[in-house]
Amino acid sequence: ENDMGTDLEKVLISKQEIDAKLAELAAQIDKDYEGKDLLIVGVLKGAVMVMADLARTLSSQVTMDWMAVSSYGAGTKSSGVVRILKDLDTDIAGRDVLIVEDIIDSGLTLSWLISNLGSRRPASLEVCTLLRKPDAAKVEIDVKYVGFDIPNEFVVGYGLDFAEKYRNLPFIGTLAPHVYGG
Ligand code: PRP
Ligand code: MN
Ligand code: MG
Repeated sequence: ENDMGTDLEKVLISKQEIDAKLAELAAQIDKDYEGKDLLIVGVLKGAVMVMADLARTLSSQVTMDWMAVSSYGAGTKSSGVVRILKDLDTDIAGRDVLIVEDIIDSGLTLSWLISNLGSRRPASLEVCTLLRKPDAAKVEIDVKYVGFDIPNEFVVGYGLDFAEKYRNLPFIGTLAPHVYGG
């Protein structure tokens, strides 16, 4: 059943705004990594859309790899205890690595990932995220490329899910409270 219309409260960031922001970020990344052999690492599954669109917006040639991680614990929120469901295929020792995320919420997932990938001795390790929720941060993370700082609301679309739904929306929207029992 296609119930997206009533499930959504509002469009927070339109497709046009996402495209414009990715063009800005890509231009900066092109400049910062000029002459380097950049590896971009997408964090499955949320980062699929950002990776695909950012990669196509870059002028530089890059290589792409993917990690799938899962937080587990009692609650539905990220516990910070993470296990690897799919590791990189690439040996990143000596490589310039840019982690690409859809959103930093508590920051726990990324904090763990940075320490895990950092221990593999990359030449450099930076983060690019489309969205960040400053009011939800439980750990401070040094993020080089941020698309949008957003309020602490439940957002879906453009890769982001609620119970695996809404990832394929082409924009970022907020979910109506009745959907998640708010
Ligand atoms: C979401 C999102 C980030 C992470 C952010 O992934 O895509 O990876 O949570 O949350 P945090 O900053 O509080 O750790 P999720 O674990 O839902 O998996 P998914 O990408 O497959 O949806
Ligand atoms: Mn994710
Ligand atoms: Mg998710």
